[in-house]
Amino acid sequence: MEMLKDKVAFITGGASGIGEGTARRFAQEGARIVIADVQEEEGQELRAELESQGHQVLYVNCDVSSADDVKSAINAAVERFGRLDIVFANAGINGVWTPIDELQPEEWDKTLDINLKGTYLTVHFAVPHLKAAGGGSILITSSVNGTRTFSNPGASAYSTSKAGQVAFMKMIALELGRHNIRCNAICPGAIHTNINERTEQRETEKIGIKVELPEGSPALHEGQGEPVDVADTCLFLASDLGRHVSGVEIFVDGAASLLR
Ligand SMILES: NC(=O)c1ccc[n+]([C@@H]2O[C@H](COP(=O)([O-])OP(=O)(O)OC[C@H]3O[C@@H](n4cnc5c(N)ncnc54)[C@H](O)[C@@H]3O)[C@@H](O)[C@H]2O)c1
Repeated sequence: MEMLKDKVAFITGGASGIGEGTARRFAQEGARIVIADVQEEEGQELRAELESQGHQVLYVNCDVSSADDVKSAINAAVERFGRLDIVFANAGINGVWTPIDELQPEEWDKTLDINLKGTYLTVHFAVPHLKAAGGGSILITSSVNGTRTFSNPGASAYSTSKAGQVAFMKMIALELGRHNIRCNAICPGAIHTNINERTEQRETEKIGIKVELPEGSPALHEGQGEPVDVADTCLFLASDLGRHVSGVEIFVDGAASLLR
């Protein structure tokens, strides 16, 4: 069954990890896909692969922290496919994890600019097109960090950005309900992607908080998920199955964050 037949989905951070997994899943369900990312090579490879399977895909180079980039990317999407139905504000970085007295203002700004301002910009420029389409579904990738767990010492900027995304999502869900636009957040736990390799941890041991877990994890799959696990949750929210669901954050972590 094609649950997203003829829908157009705009996915930021779509070249890797959760965004890539969701692009693949949405394409299987009949959506036309726009991948917006800063990793052009990976993004174009994914575009070519999906197109070779018969899907319609556009890659646009877009730094989500730049208003000009996001505006052009959304315009390019609408120019190519004529409409917008699903917006997945997913691009994000872990940034620098370090004690607060060592976290530099420009490091704080970078994390907040990509994760939180990037979410605002994506939604801001997409909403007129969702309204024009008569409704739509906005998905935002937050995290268990900053919403249910505070156990990664030094991740103050990251956790703040992720908490901010949930507050933003709830405001927008209320504001846009009368336009038939739903807005929800996904809060993943540990998902196998490249994000950890791109994290800079500096002297977090200085904070002196050691998180110790009981031996073994009681969570589903030991708390480890794959991008497709998040993608399937996004599919529910993006499709008609989620038609009466708006303003919620869904934890996709096998219950792991109940413990840590
Ligand atoms: N992997 C996890 O365990 C996990 C857990 C909780 C939340 N998340 C969130 O999931 C989202 C996706 O992360 P992921 O784990 O798939 O990581 P990832 O690094 O595999 O993918 C992130 C993608 O975002 C892109 N990106 C980064 N900065 C960008 C920018 N300025 N403009 C446009 N694109 C940009 C990257 O190029 C990359 O393709 C992030 O918001 C992250 O905070 C991930």
